[in-house]
Amino acid sequence: MANGQEAVPVVNSIGCADCHDTTSKDFSEGKPALRIARPHVLRALDNIDKNFSTADRTDKRAAICANCHVEYYFDKKTGVNNVVFPWYKGVDVDNIEKYYDEIEFYDWIHSVSKAPMLKAQHPDYETWMQGTHGKNGVTCIDCHMPKVQGADGKVYTDHQIQNPFNAFEHTCANCHDQSKETLQKIVATHKHDIKEVMIKLEDQIVKAHFEAKAAWNAGATEEEMKDALKAIRHAQWRWDYSAAGHGGHMHAPDIILKVIASGLDRAVEARTKLAIILTKHGVQQPIEYPDTSTAEKAWKAIGVDIEKERREKAEFMNTVLPQWDKEAKQKGLILNDAPPK
Ligand code: HEC
Ligand code: HEC
Ligand code: HEC
Ligand code: HEC
Repeated sequence: MANGQEAVPVVNSIGCADCHDTTSKDFSEGKPALRIARPHVLRALDNIDKNFSTADRTDKRAAICANCHVEYYFDKKTGVNNVVFPWYKGVDVDNIEKYYDEIEFYDWIHSVSKAPMLKAQHPDYETWMQGTHGKNGVTCIDCHMPKVQGADGKVYTDHQIQNPFNAFEHTCANCHDQSKETLQKIVATHKHDIKEVMIKLEDQIVKAHFEAKAAWNAGATEEEMKDALKAIRHAQWRWDYSAAGHGGHMHAPDIILKVIASGLDRAVEARTKLAIILTKHGVQQPIEYPDTSTAEKAWKAIGVDIEKERREKAEFMNTVLPQWDKEAKQKGLILNDAPPK
């Protein structure tokens, strides 16, 4: 590869080596320290003043999940697919957006509106940091990898990462007096409320994309469209930050609601600007919006050939993936050790 590193196949299985140094003495003695092996993760943590080697145990316990449960992008400028976390100004939705705007990064140009779009990955670590638990030093491990007692009476870390409610006695109940049902109900209510406003934002964004298309069709210029397209980009980035961060309704419901509210504000700005452009070009409003009420109809409206996409996916799964697995096993990248019991 151009950067001198050996090409390795992409494997999604998570191995011990993601969180421990499997060649260390600690590891063979059954008391492994936590470690992060990926240089881009270590660099990103330095950028938010969370240097891993000097971090305390609490910060380390959350940081290992930041290996993967974060927002990232591929820096195309360096010529290789270099993974970068966009945390230079902060991890919240505004500061990541500011950074992406400054470097004029976009993941794709929207086929309907021609807006330069951002695709959020899964900013779980970032949202957790901003929420009540993150601010109080309650880490991912406290809820997703609790200490439990084995059959032999020994206490160990449960490595079966799952929904913490499945192990309520060892997770929430360590700190909260409320019953499982009470807490589950609170979390379910947050989820429901967030979903409700998220759909409202989604509706606004869909309309804005088609209004932009109508404006282009009526002869609007790039200069006229620039600010409206940027507002669409911002609105959808905010929608995506809240949708793609799984468990955001639990990790920081207040933050997620604010992200969506600010997304609605950006969508209103986009549509106000577009209304002026449409009027100027003599387009009667409201315009006609295509039916996007189901996934099939939405694909059709934006011109996605879904049968072709499905064929290509099946081809990839049947040919490329088995080859990657084979190579990964040969290189020992997939370890099949059982977690500690
Ligand atoms: C996603 C990160 C992650 C992965 C992957 C992982 N561990 Fe751990 N491991 C942890 C955490 C977190 C602790 C607890 C550290 C603490 O309490 O500060 C731990 C602790 C341990 C301990 C100490 C005893 C205990 O139970 O607390 C052993 C032994 C261990 N891991 C073995 C393994 C083995 C073997 C694998 C691969 C099968 C593995 N781990 C994979 C995160 C991980
Ligand atoms: C090496 C990358 C990697 C690391 C490190 C990692 N995860 Fe994940 N995690 C994933 C991927 C990939 C999935 C999705 C798996 C799938 O869809 O089958 C996932 C799924 C999950 C899920 C959903 C599980 C479910 O039952 O659906 C939770 C919760 C989770 N991770 C929490 C954590 C926590 C907490 C940590 C840190 C202790 C962590 N992960 C570390 C990659 C990682
Ligand atoms: C205070 C406890 C708590 C902490 C701390 C916490 N989580 Fe969670 N997380 C939960 C609960 C509970 C859920 C499931 C919410 C639900 O049932 O609707 C969840 C859901 C998730 C999901 C989505 C799982 C799915 O199936 O969609 C992921 C991924 C996840 N958490 C990762 C993390 C990561 C990474 C961290 C740390 C950066 C973290 N969590 C910190 C309690 C916690
Ligand atoms: C290690 C301790 C700890 C664990 C484990 C823990 N919490 Fe908390 N939780 C806290 C603290 C501390 C606060 C903040 C309390 C305050 O500010 O008065 C909090 C606040 C909350 C709040 C109200 C604030 C908010 O932003 O949502 C809810 C709801 C909550 N926790 C649910 C849960 C659930 C559900 C679990 C298990 C999945 C859980 N907690 C696990 C310590 C913990």
